[in-house]
Amino acid sequence: MGASDGASDGGTAPRSGTAPRAGGAREPDGWLELAGITRHNLKDLDAQFPLGVLTAVTGVSGSGKSTLVTHVLGEVVGSGLKNHQAPQPAEPDDAGPVTPLSVGPVSGAERIDRVVTVDQKPIGRTPRSNLATYTGLFDAVRKEFAATEQARARGFGAGRFSFNVAGGRCETCQGEGFVAVELLFLPGSYGPCPECDGSRYNPKTLEVTYRGKNVAEVLRLTVDAATAFLADIPAAARSLKSLGDVGLGYLRLGQPATELSGGEAQRIKLATELQRAQRGIPSTSWTSQPPGSTRPTSNS
Ligand SMILES: Nc1ncnc2c1ncn2[C@@H]1O[C@H](COP(=O)(O)OP(=O)(O)O)[C@@H](O)[C@H]1O
Ligand SMILES: [Mg+2]
Ligand SMILES: [Zn+2]
Repeated sequence: MGASDGASDGGTAPRSGTAPRAGGAREPDGWLELAGITRHNLKDLDAQFPLGVLTAVTGVSGSGKSTLVTHVLGEVVGSGLKNHQAPQPAEPDDAGPVTPLSVGPVSGAERIDRVVTVDQKPIGRTPRSNLATYTGLFDAVRKEFAATEQARARGFGAGRFSFNVAGGRCETCQGEGFVAVELLFLPGSYGPCPECDGSRYNPKTLEVTYRGKNVAEVLRLTVDAATAFLADIPAAARSLKSLGDVGLGYLRLGQPATELSGGEAQRIKLATELQRAQRGIPSTSWTSQPPGSTRPTSNS
């Protein structure tokens, strides 16, 4: 196992700076160094990660890549940051410390502002989250609806167009769009809400249209269709561009988080970070698997 240093122009003099150049690899502009790492099968390991470059950690299955990157780096660097939220363990594989973590001196961590884990865990465990709520693009959509003549005449604010709070949503299904169906002698199942027909909203909310579509119809648009529909709304266009760039143009905005594959969830997280990076916030991301990869060997 080894952390690559990103330098591949063996022999030539080191170059400074981190701006991407055509045809050349970036040079690291610093190092994150951890000494004496002990966890799982890592015993008193020293590791150096170059900063300011893309770095891959490779190795055979079971050599400790996930331990080093997800557990050690995430915990050690993340715990030194303000506002850091420890990642929620969702799989037994990633469950909290079973064997204690011990690390010696760490240097370079002060250069890192944000730690983002881009993994394949769901973006939400209920149908109440979807890519529009997760990326924040739905906030921009709701504002546009609230700014229409129709909404203002009725006194509807942006909250009226949320399916997660009382007001605009269908109360029969509480905005979920489906209801549990009790079956005599058979296991219960879910079916579309008979009241709102799966639209999640009450009729008064659906009377309001923006560019000819009500809010439920906007949630049924794919990312590609929405890119054209919302092209002139900067906050929405930025999210949609990132989602398209990571290959998710075919997903519907309102597709429930529970219906997304692991690779789709991962790419939504990546897109959410990319749209932020455009605002100039430096960050460090780790991804446990190549986006879109589903082969079991890829996380070995
Ligand atoms: N939560 C855990 N508790 C105890 N041992 C673990 C845990 N997770 C991984 N290991 C062990 O640590 C070693 C490295 O695992 P891991 O970091 O997942 O390797 P890789 O990601 O390189 O395949 C393996 O021997 C594995 O069995
Ligand atoms: Mg692994
Ligand atoms: Zn309903």
